[in-house]
Amino acid sequence: MSLKPSRRSFLRRATILAGGAFSAQSIFNQTYGSVFDDLAAKYSGIAPADLAYDEDYWSVIQQGYTASSAPVLNLNNGGVSPSPLVVQQAVERYGQLSNQGPSYYMWKILDQGREPLREKLALLGGADPEEIAINRNATEALNSIIFGLDLNRGDEVIGCYFDYGNMMHAWHQRAKREGIVYKQLSFDFPIEDDDMIVQAYREAITEKTKIIHVTHVINWIGQIMPVKKICQMAHERGIEVIVDGAHSFGLLDFKIPELEGDYFGTSLHKYLSAPIGSGMLWIKKEKISKVWPLLSNGDPQSGNIRKFESIGTRSFPIEQGIGEALNFHNAIGAKRKEERVRYLKNYWAEKALEIPGVKLHASLKAPYSCAIAGVSVAGMSPKELENSLMSRFQIHTVAIPYRNLDCVRVSPHIYTSLSDLDRFVKALSILAAENANFDMGGKGA
Ligand SMILES: Cc1ncc(COP(=O)(O)O)c(C=O)c1O
Repeated sequence: MSLKPSRRSFLRRATILAGGAFSAQSIFNQTYGSVFDDLAAKYSGIAPADLAYDEDYWSVIQQGYTASSAPVLNLNNGGVSPSPLVVQQAVERYGQLSNQGPSYYMWKILDQGREPLREKLALLGGADPEEIAINRNATEALNSIIFGLDLNRGDEVIGCYFDYGNMMHAWHQRAKREGIVYKQLSFDFPIEDDDMIVQAYREAITEKTKIIHVTHVINWIGQIMPVKKICQMAHERGIEVIVDGAHSFGLLDFKIPELEGDYFGTSLHKYLSAPIGSGMLWIKKEKISKVWPLLSNGDPQSGNIRKFESIGTRSFPIEQGIGEALNFHNAIGAKRKEERVRYLKNYWAEKALEIPGVKLHASLKAPYSCAIAGVSVAGMSPKELENSLMSRFQIHTVAIPYRNLDCVRVSPHIYTSLSDLDRFVKALSILAAENANFDMGGKGA
């Protein structure tokens, strides 16, 4: 008997899926429904902070991913994260469906999934669906705001040197082209003092300041910024706040309106593990009409958030695959995920701190960091450390030789195992020992 599905059954299944990424028919439910139900029942009474240490629970979650630590152990999930298998399968199936007759299946079938998807994203973000636009990445979401706001020559925007490059470039372009003033603060991260950070923004404000741009989790080093306190301070002075949530959404357990920002943009292909090339924009309802869309729309001053989705033909399979990533994420629960990833970071970081010559560039306290931490080895430049980890130990990290930061960035994800992290710590200890020997003229301790 052939295992190949007949063309009719494929189409029937695909049509159900197109409208049903969020229903009982979703690929997630077909694949994992009972597994996750059983897990939820078994672990329901356990607090997320305690569950973070439960390898039995997390080994089931790890199996949902195909990402493997052989041959290369990926410790740069902050760059972009892999999707679980169900998400990959969804994108594949929607792609096959699209290719049955693209204009019909994409625009008449898959397109119907966008409004349910908006609702599902809004639910996770604690927002009104009418405040959510679906787009391709955080750069698109945040550039829509940066270039969409009316500002006059001389108006001031405050950001910092540790915001993301694409956003700093966008503000520099507005400064060059229109004469706005873009001021950037510098910080000595890690900082375990919210007030010190808020104070730095407060002191930079003048009567010309219109916007503060703040990154929720600083990508370079993982510092969690006191966004809510910055927003409250800014609003007392009539200043709006744009929040870059690329590294926070789908990782930290928060609702977007709780941050009290005015605008929020994020990737979905980082910690949410949605298909690569997916992002989201949130704008406070009453502010939508005043933001001009980046790609023009028939009614650019409309209060309808969908004006930010006039991006022409896009990948419908990627967009609809977000629904399955949400199913996977929700089945775990936001708080459990945050606690587990912080535990993984602290697991390797606490061991690394014991190694002579190894320095940690992150706080180990929960309010100030979660997944990401920087680490350095005495006697090695960030690039040397990144290269040695890769060439000798097949461990992928990213060098951060930037301003006052000199380290490699390390970011595990929920699919990362403790043995993967042991492998990383062992590599650090070998490199630290070799460099200690080298510092002593190769004679050894
Ligand atoms: C803080 C921050 N903002 C924005 C981005 C851009 O994300 P995307 O590649 O989804 O546009 C990144 C990417 O790493 C980032 O770290």
